[in-house]
Amino acid sequence: MSDATAQPHGLQQARDKMTEAGVAPAAIETFTRFYRILTSGETGLIREEDVEPLTGIPRHADLDIEPGAAAEALGRTAICKLNGGLGTSMGMDRAKSLLPVRVADDGSVLSFLDIIAGQIRAARRATGARLPLILMDSFRTRDDTLEALGRYTDLTVDGLPLDFLQNREPKLRADTLEPVRWDADPSLEWCPPGHGDLYAALHAGGIVPKLLEAGFRYLSVSNSDNLGAAPDADIAGWFAASGAPYAAEMCAKTPADVKGGQLVRRKSDGRIVQRETAQTHPDDMVFALDAERHPYFHTNNLWFDLEALGAELERTGGVLELPLIRNEKTVDPSDASSPAVVQIESAMGAAVRVFEGATAIDVPRSRFLPVKTTNDLLLLRSDVYELGDDYRLDATFDADAGQSAPLVDLDKRYYKLIDDFTARFDAGAPSLTEAESLTVAGDWTFGPGVRAVGKAVLTEPAEGAPAQVPDGATVGPDGIA
Ligand code: UTP
Repeated sequence: MSDATAQPHGLQQARDKMTEAGVAPAAIETFTRFYRILTSGETGLIREEDVEPLTGIPRHADLDIEPGAAAEALGRTAICKLNGGLGTSMGMDRAKSLLPVRVADDGSVLSFLDIIAGQIRAARRATGARLPLILMDSFRTRDDTLEALGRYTDLTVDGLPLDFLQNREPKLRADTLEPVRWDADPSLEWCPPGHGDLYAALHAGGIVPKLLEAGFRYLSVSNSDNLGAAPDADIAGWFAASGAPYAAEMCAKTPADVKGGQLVRRKSDGRIVQRETAQTHPDDMVFALDAERHPYFHTNNLWFDLEALGAELERTGGVLELPLIRNEKTVDPSDASSPAVVQIESAMGAAVRVFEGATAIDVPRSRFLPVKTTNDLLLLRSDVYELGDDYRLDATFDADAGQSAPLVDLDKRYYKLIDDFTARFDAGAPSLTEAESLTVAGDWTFGPGVRAVGKAVLTEPAEGAPAQVPDGATVGPDGIA
């Protein structure tokens, strides 16, 4: 328990603000722990000499799960989607999952949420599994999300809630670490504490006991912006048979994956721990990025044994000992000149170290289809992916054989923010199936039926001048043909 008399001023103010706003005690204690780590200067570095690479994990492709066992495990699996983030990197202040991704055959526009609902309903029909969907929403994403899902009246199962709410915490002024004041829009004084808040939020919502009571044993958790993470009976069967409390889905790195974050095995006790880029010593970066030494990256698709998770939440009161992520932003994400703030966050996958016997599985690349930028969104909207009857997005290239999607690189000045991007691709995404890459410099608006081929390039017509890619044009290495 924290001693209120020994709080630094900023911490005391933040705790008071959270208490007044009715934030759950577990979230206030989690915040307090992180605030102390923040001010202690503790870095949480995980040195290469203290760890071994995570290797030798089972491959999804080699699984040989008896179909009955797989079906039985999927029948006891609930699906949780992380949906509390705001897509601030794309200039959004609403759930990214509301964005349109595809147009269905009947002309209706499908968002991430529609596709997630479609994947769940299709998997239910195909397997007979109950597969409840439970979203983790934040105070900024809940209302829109529930409204958007309202059209699927069959989505809820056995009286289970469709979502639970994550916590909120004050953004801290970067100079004083006191809660920031922003009279222009006081709601911007608050932020969700990253997806590591899953544990405190599950605990506060009493979700794990509800699922256990309804007969579920496993929880499959993934990002709502990763449409690759559809329900998977083989992984459920493998996880159930493993008896592990926790499993992370990992993907084999390709040379294009320069990701620093990974799972490693701690030499001192053999436990698997997550090492984020921020926890990697600069001298160790060369090892962390070496795909031969550390062959996998973390997809943020996780599996939990609900009994083990419930026991851990009970034991800790929902306050798991996760490492701190210090996230620096501006109080108004859409206004770079607004005051600098620090957001105290944590990552869901860092909990791997808390679960003794945690394990991992090597899954196909198709289970990792995240949308972090408008470059990713353009690809997903293009003909490079086909939307199946099961609502999975099937790549037209063979990802599992090492082929990769065309590399899309849009000029950040005109396409980084979602509104700018939408205005320039109002007529639809260009065809990208014949493209190796598409690089756009300058302010180009695309007409309908545009096709990119080879290493397609559009160069800036004249500094700042808008230009049009004509209807039906072909863009190649030398620009518009
Ligand atoms: P990210 O942190 O990768 O992205 O979240 P984001 O929050 O969507 O976007 P930026 O960083 O603001 O641009 C990965 C997943 O975790 C969820 C997001 O909704 C996304 O599905 N998330 C993130 C939460 O549920 N809560 C959070 O506090 C943060």
